[in-house]
Amino acid sequence: MRTRPHNVQPAASYADDRQRFARAVFAGLSRPDKHLPTAYLYDERGSALFDAICQLPEYYPTRTEVAIMREHARTMVQTFAANAVLIEYGSGSSLKTRLLLDAMRPRAYVPVDISGAHLDAAAATLRAEYPALRVMPVCADFTRPFDVPRLGPANVVYFPGSTLGNFERDAAVALLRQMATLAGPEGHVVVGTDMRKPSAIVERAYADAAGVTAAFNRNLLVRINRELDADFAPERFEHRAPFDADRGSIVMQLISRCQQRVLIAGRRFMFSTGEIVVTEYSHKYTPGEVASLAAAAALELEQSWYDSAGWFGIQLLRPRA
Ligand SMILES: C[S@@+](CC[C@H](N)C(=O)[O-])C[C@H]1O[C@@H](n2cnc3c(N)ncnc32)[C@H](O)[C@@H]1O
Repeated sequence: MRTRPHNVQPAASYADDRQRFARAVFAGLSRPDKHLPTAYLYDERGSALFDAICQLPEYYPTRTEVAIMREHARTMVQTFAANAVLIEYGSGSSLKTRLLLDAMRPRAYVPVDISGAHLDAAAATLRAEYPALRVMPVCADFTRPFDVPRLGPANVVYFPGSTLGNFERDAAVALLRQMATLAGPEGHVVVGTDMRKPSAIVERAYADAAGVTAAFNRNLLVRINRELDADFAPERFEHRAPFDADRGSIVMQLISRCQQRVLIAGRRFMFSTGEIVVTEYSHKYTPGEVASLAAAAALELEQSWYDSAGWFGIQLLRPRA
């Protein structure tokens, strides 16, 4: 992450993006335990499907996090530096952000997301709803260096939705460190974390009866077909999302329903019957794990808020002096 005076991203060419996508897919499918890159779940359709997931009765995280924000956003913002800028990682539709915007009234809002068309649409909606707010979207992969507009010394970096849980520990620490730097010594980092709970509740949230999460998962194959000239038959892969108690994570998977061969940009990949392709981890935290991650990223835990069942947490962190 670098700061720049303008909200201008260097124009990465479509060919560069496509090559990066192809490299990530080839690397993931060449492993003995096949993986596909999680961030690519979010193209325009993937982002729309994620919004639909957030409305599902089984998907408790969104409504639980929104309820906590409704109750505590006004208290939370009291500790923020005056005139801070709000920067959100993985902003999606910026829906729950409105609670923070209303309480905080930041100087500017910088939503950062990899899903470009969805980000632009969300920014346009926000500008119409908040005509006095400077909305400066940045389309970027936040795991790689990216530019943000340099607007002031103190930032509040917001990372809701437990997107942190999609990253393994070292990557999660690296992301939090990057956020601490971006926040600045007077700034804050606010992170939403989905907490450990009975596995049946968690598994239901990722295997809804209407099949929306399954469509979200298989859409990654549709995207690979479209962008990498592949011939996946998505219906030949079953969606599953078991809770792995050893990892403490939901492991979202596509299971090959038969022995099959798939061509991707001219390269051949074999899938045996029952073979697992992991598409996403979604870690469920204990309070101790959250504290340990924050400490490893040189962040101090200032305060945490939970719902009454302790299903979801919002952590207010500040860079260690
Ligand atoms: C789980 S959704 C959360 C959306 C929203 N913040 C919420 O709380 O409902 C994850 C969001 O992060 C974005 N995202 C995932 N990986 C990303 C990456 N590496 N760089 C930038 N954005 C990413 C996705 O496009 C998506 O909008």
